[in-house]
Amino acid sequence: MTSAIQERADPDKNTAPDTALQDRRAAAAADPDGYWRDRGQAIDWIEPYTQVKDTSFDAADFRIRWFADGKLNVSANCLDRHLDTRGDQVAIIWEGDEPGETERVTYRDLHARVCKFANVLKAQGVAKGDRVTLYMPMIVEAAVAMLACARIGAVHSVVFGGFSPDSLAGRIEDCGSTFVITADEGCRGGKRIPLKANVDAALEKYAGVTRVVVVRRTGADIPMIAGRDIWYHEAMADASADCAPEPMDAEDPLFILYTSGSTGKPKGVLHSSGGYLVWTAVTFQEVFDYRDGDLFWCTADVGWVTGHSYVVYGPLASGATTVMFDGVPNYPDHGRFWETIDRLGVTIFYTAPTAIRALMREGDTWVARSSRTSLRLLGSVGEPINPEAWRWYHDVVGDGRCPIVDTWWQTETGGIMIAPSPHTAVGKPGSATKPLPGVMPQLVDAEGVVLDGATEGNLVIADSWPGQMRTVWGDHDRFFQTYFSTYPGKYFTGDGARRDADGDYWITGRVDDVINVSGHRMGTAEVESALVAHPRVAEAAVVGMPHEVKGQGIYAYVTLNAGDTGDDATRDELRAWVRREIGPIATPDALQFAPALPKTRSGKIMRRILRKIAEGDTTNLGDISTLADPSVVALLVKERIG
Ligand code: WTA
Repeated sequence: MTSAIQERADPDKNTAPDTALQDRRAAAAADPDGYWRDRGQAIDWIEPYTQVKDTSFDAADFRIRWFADGKLNVSANCLDRHLDTRGDQVAIIWEGDEPGETERVTYRDLHARVCKFANVLKAQGVAKGDRVTLYMPMIVEAAVAMLACARIGAVHSVVFGGFSPDSLAGRIEDCGSTFVITADEGCRGGKRIPLKANVDAALEKYAGVTRVVVVRRTGADIPMIAGRDIWYHEAMADASADCAPEPMDAEDPLFILYTSGSTGKPKGVLHSSGGYLVWTAVTFQEVFDYRDGDLFWCTADVGWVTGHSYVVYGPLASGATTVMFDGVPNYPDHGRFWETIDRLGVTIFYTAPTAIRALMREGDTWVARSSRTSLRLLGSVGEPINPEAWRWYHDVVGDGRCPIVDTWWQTETGGIMIAPSPHTAVGKPGSATKPLPGVMPQLVDAEGVVLDGATEGNLVIADSWPGQMRTVWGDHDRFFQTYFSTYPGKYFTGDGARRDADGDYWITGRVDDVINVSGHRMGTAEVESALVAHPRVAEAAVVGMPHEVKGQGIYAYVTLNAGDTGDDATRDELRAWVRREIGPIATPDALQFAPALPKTRSGKIMRRILRKIAEGDTTNLGDISTLADPSVVALLVKERIG
């Protein structure tokens, strides 16, 4: 006998098209304004909007505004409005680094904690519009801090706890934060992360911060700087739990999140209050089909956009129960995810292909120790999922009975853009399938000509959607140039994609100089500038290379100063240097010393050739006759690493 859940979730049986979704897609395409006027009601408004879509991607009247005359408060949507109906329901289940180290926080508790911390922020002088930087572990206080900022209209900027003091300082300085929230230490895979010490080091480089609030996580003995540092628990002890939510304009900023681009320093991607919350709530419900009684676990860290949209804002705006995980997939062993799913009763599980590949390598026995009978839906995000990993996720983790939603989106898009229906997610391993209602993808060639039918090209989005980023913090011109100038009138994603005869999309990966390492975006220019900052390095070029677990690895070509040849010790030194400058995720996987780099006669580095060599595809390097010195290529091929 099969249960109702199994029937609903059997991907091989459930092949009927989701006609309701098709209807929504058609309605949104025919009348975006009417469609979003209706969907905007997914959240509560303090003052209702009369305007809905007010957008143009053209240079002459470039603007992106949604629900612009409405007023709302994001934290009231995530907390207050649930109190009557689900105040005693668990909002967040926190799962620590050690299995079973858990905490359950109800909507009522979370509301009280957020109000108190909002009052702490106000008492310390944080006002509407101020930027507050968070550098925290995956603890409940991180969500409390985000929501407390939203409550008073402050703009949070979460910096992933794996970034170095230098990277942290750069991000604090760029948005002019005067306020930092951190913890004494973080715990990851049984190791301690010196978060407060990193903040101290960052603030030696940037002196503009006046207050640091420190959450006690491990109880480590850390120095507190009088007049600057305050303990979270002390400040909270006598804070009032009464704090009215600040009415915000729909277009007021909610947060900044730094992300890597193809050039220059990381950009501060800015998201709005109204459009972003509508988008995360609607996509959360559309893609995961969350129902009362479900338990949703997105394994992402709040340092990335996935953690913002699908650990905190989408689930809480929807009144869901969301898991916050402070650990790693392989600690204390490779069965951690599956054991935790059983213990907590997770029904919807959302993770990244890199984690799936890493666990797949360890064999099925780790999975077989758990039952996973609570699961009904699986999700994937962050990078293309290779068919082999998809199959294993589907057959072994999901026991062949849970559909997989492969969700394509970006920090810039705020939430999911292309994903299968959770009701009929039949197996097309590696395809994110079709756009959500209101998303208008197109494929274009290099000249911007729109390609029809089954084809391959660069992925653009032809019209705006509510969750779209609004600007690059402090540089609106860079926003326009980066995303809207390549193909005038369209948003350029930086990704390439294929569309099959069914109209389904297959994302093939970045077509710019961004690489995707374990689902995390890394700009090659950032790694290059860290390398050339080393006194022994004259020049560096960084490209992506295929990596079995990480998806892409970082391949660095380094030219040392004249006369310096470099050896294995130099290689280790440079890798450690990059780690220190940016953070562990930027550490080059391969580092090749190059006496010279292949350049055109005008001095431009030929990355196409470097990419091919890194990929090991050296038989077809294309035309190298335009190089200033074609002989360097043969040398690089000969000394290739791997
Ligand atoms: C890639 C993460 C293929 C893509 C939410 C995109 C994907 C970049 C998928 C954004 C997917 C994300 N299939 N590729 N399902 N999801 N990507 O800003 O290259 O960290 O441009 O946002 O990840 O990464 P970001």
